[in-house]
Amino acid sequence: MLEKLKTKIKEIKNIDSTGHVTGRSMYVDDIIERADTLFAGVLTSPVSKGKIVQINVDKALEIDGINCILLATDIPGENQIGGILPDEPLLAENEVHYMGQPIAVLVGEDENCIHKAISLIDLEIEKEIPITDPKTAFQKGKILLPPRTFRLGNTEEEFSKKDLVIVEGSCDIGGQEHLYLETQGAYAIPKEKGIYVISSTQSPTAVQRTIAKVLGWSMHQVEVDVTRLGGGFGGKEDQATPWACMAALAAVRMNKPVKLILDRYVDIRSTGKRHRYMADYRICSTKDGMIQAYEVMFYQDAGAAADLSPAVLERTLFHFTNAYFIPNVTATAVSCKTNLPPNTAFRGFGGPQGMFVIEAAITRLADKLKLPREEVQKKNLLKENDLLPYGQIVRNVKTNLSWDTLITNFDINKRIASINKFNEENKLKKKGYAFMPICFGISFTKTSLNQASSLVNIYYDGSVGISTGAVEMGQGVNTRIAQVPMTVFSLPLNKIKIETTNTTRIINTSPSAASSTADLNGKATELACMTLKERLLQFASELLETPMEQLDFEDLYVTNNNQKTSLSWDELISKAYENRISLSEKGFYATPSIHFDSSIEKGHPFAYHVYGTSFHEVTIDVVKGTYSLDYVAVVHDVGKSMNKLIDQGQLEGGLVQGIGWMTLEELRYSDEGRLLSNSLSTYKVPDIYSIPKVLETMFLEDPEPHGLLKSKAIGEPPLMYGIGTYFALLNAINQYTGKLPNTIISPMTPERLFTFLHLSRHHP
Ligand code: MTE
Ligand code: HPA
Ligand code: MOS
Repeated sequence: MLEKLKTKIKEIKNIDSTGHVTGRSMYVDDIIERADTLFAGVLTSPVSKGKIVQINVDKALEIDGINCILLATDIPGENQIGGILPDEPLLAENEVHYMGQPIAVLVGEDENCIHKAISLIDLEIEKEIPITDPKTAFQKGKILLPPRTFRLGNTEEEFSKKDLVIVEGSCDIGGQEHLYLETQGAYAIPKEKGIYVISSTQSPTAVQRTIAKVLGWSMHQVEVDVTRLGGGFGGKEDQATPWACMAALAAVRMNKPVKLILDRYVDIRSTGKRHRYMADYRICSTKDGMIQAYEVMFYQDAGAAADLSPAVLERTLFHFTNAYFIPNVTATAVSCKTNLPPNTAFRGFGGPQGMFVIEAAITRLADKLKLPREEVQKKNLLKENDLLPYGQIVRNVKTNLSWDTLITNFDINKRIASINKFNEENKLKKKGYAFMPICFGISFTKTSLNQASSLVNIYYDGSVGISTGAVEMGQGVNTRIAQVPMTVFSLPLNKIKIETTNTTRIINTSPSAASSTADLNGKATELACMTLKERLLQFASELLETPMEQLDFEDLYVTNNNQKTSLSWDELISKAYENRISLSEKGFYATPSIHFDSSIEKGHPFAYHVYGTSFHEVTIDVVKGTYSLDYVAVVHDVGKSMNKLIDQGQLEGGLVQGIGWMTLEELRYSDEGRLLSNSLSTYKVPDIYSIPKVLETMFLEDPEPHGLLKSKAIGEPPLMYGIGTYFALLNAINQYTGKLPNTIISPMTPERLFTFLHLSRHHP
C-alpha cells in the first residue's frame, strides 16, 4: 500500500454552513412531495399502563379525507421493532406500557383530517398502576436483564480495613430531552421493486432492517436515504425507526407515497430521553485522600422497553471511575423497566451518569476529609499504564497534563484565591468552583459495530463523489470526510461531493454514533482514496515516464519531486478513463485490536480515550436561589485537530448541552406517568443567557494513530464537562450551609438550589 499521505491537512469551514444560514439545507419535511402523497398521523396511548379493551375506528374512518387506519393486526410481517431485545411492538396490541405509545397509524389527505379522526377513535383501556421510578421497578423485579458487575481488586476486604475514611451516599440523576430542532419523521415512496424511504435517522440500516421485518420483506427490498438531520444527539439512533416503519407500512398498504412528520408535542411525549439513574455508593480513602475502594449500584430507568438501554448501561460501567484510578472497585448496574417512554442514546451514552456518581462520591469524601475537593481529585487521577476496571491499560494519558495546563494557562489558582476572598467578604452571595476531569472511551462498546465502508467515485471530468455510512447531524462529519480526498488527492472542495447516506450504495452501516462516525467512515474513505491514488500515480508514472516514487498530487497537478508537471488532475483522470482504468473504489475499515469478553467483563474495548479538564466558577444568591455561571475554562485533548472550527463547535456545543442537563433541564412526570414538562415553556433548555459569561478553551494536540488523519473524536466527550457546573453550584451551597446533602439530586435548578440552601433538613 502506498504510504504517502499529505501531512498538510486542508482545513475548511463546515461545508453545510452556507446552506444552513440561507435556508437551503434540506430536511425530510423540506422535500417536495409527489402529487399523490398521503400524510400519516399517530394515535398514542393516553395512559401509562393498561389493557386495551377495545379500539373502534368506524367513526374516524367516516371523516372526509381519511384513507385508512392501521392497527397492530394490519402489520403483514412482525409487529416487533426491538433492536437489542425483542420487547417492543411497533403498534400496541393488547396492552399499553407508557403514555404516548403508538397504537394506530391514520392515513389521509392532509393533517387536519387526521387530527379530527384521531379524536374520533373510540379507545377503551383498562388502567393499571404504572411504575415511574427505577428503584421501585427494581424492588418489584421489573428488570430487563440480570445486573452486570465490573470489578477490580477486592472492595470488601478494603472497606473492612482500619484507619480508612468511609462515606456512603446516593444520587438521583435526571434525564434529558434531546430537543433536536428537526422532529422525527420519514417519507416513504413505493417503487417498482420495493420501497424507498427518506428518514431522519442516525441508523439507516436499522431503519432498513426493521422496515423489512415489519413488512415481512427482505432488506434488499428496502432503500433508506438520509441527507442530513436537524440534530440527533442519540435521539435518532434507535427512535427514528418506528416512524419510518409506520410511513412504510402505510405507503405499502396504500401503494402511494406517505409522509409522517411528528409535531413537537407528540415527539416530546412519545420518544425516550437520556436515562434517569438512581445510585447508591460507598467510597473509602486514606486520611490524605488516596481513594482505596469504591462500590456503586446503578439503577437505570430504562422505560417501558429495552431500546438501547442495555448498551447504555454497559457504558455507565465503562465510565464509573471517570478519569481516576481506584485499585478496588465493584460496580453493579441494572436496567429497570418503568412505564415511561423507552429511554435511549443521548450524547455520552450512560457515561455521564457514571461519572456524575463518582464526582458526587469524591465531593462528599473530600468534605469529610476536610480537604479541598480538587486535592482528592488530583491525587487520584489516572496515570500512564494504569489498569481500568474493564481490563484496558491506558496509554498517552492526558489527565494530569490537561489539569496542569489548565491551572497554569488560565491562572486558576489566582481565581480560586479571589473566590475564597469573595466568600469571606460576602454573606448573602457565595461563589463556588469545581474542576471536572474527563476520560471517555472511543469505539462502540459493542466491538462488531466498529466497521465502516466508503465508496469513492471519480467521474471522468475529475470530480469526486463520496458515499459512506456516516450521517450528518450537525456535527460536521461530512466536512471531515470531504477533507480526506482533499488531503489525499490535494483537491479543492469544489471537486468533492459528499453524497447522501444510502443503504443501497453503502450496506450494513453502523449507526452514526459513539463519536466514532468520522474515525470509522473517514478511515474507510482514506483507504479507498489511497488505493485510487496508488493506481493513478502508477498510471501517471507511465504517462510521464518517471518513477512513481517521485510523483504526487499538488493543487490539481501531478508533481515530480514536488515540482509541478504538465499533467493536470483533470487530464490524468480523463486519460485513465480512456485507458479503461477503474476510477471507483470501495474502502472498508475495522478498528484493529479491540475486543471485549462480557463473560468476564474484561478486554480492550476502546481504540483510545479522550481526556481533558475543565474549571467552573459560579455565584449564587442565597436569598433568591438564583445563580450565574461566571467562568468556564477547558483544556481538551483533540489529537491532532483536523478541523479547529468544527472541534471548537463540538466543544462548546457539548459543554453547553451538558450544563443544560445539569442545571436547567428538568423532566417532570406525574404519578400517572404523564410528562408535565412537555413543551418549551415548561422544559427549559440553555440559551444565550445560560452559557458561561466567560469561556476560555484550549486544545491539547498530540497525534492519535487510531483517529482520522490523527485527530481524536470529539462528538460526545465535552458534554461531560457540564457536570463541573453542577459541582461548582454544590460547592457554593456548601460555602453557605456548611454541609452537603446525602442524596445528590440533579438538575440543580434554581428551585432545587433554594431547597438545598434553606430546606436541607426536610430534604433527604
Ligand atoms: N453535534 C450536533 N450539532 N448535532 C448532533 O446531533 N450528536 C452528538 C455529537 N455532536 C450531535 C452533535 C452525538 S450524540 C454523537 S455520538 C456525535 O456527535 C456523532 O457524530 P460523530 O461520531 O461524527 O462525532
Ligand atoms: N455508543 C453509542 N451508541 C451505541 C454504542 C455506543 O457505545 N453501542 C451501540 N450503540
Ligand atoms: Mo451519540 S449518543 O452515540 O448518538
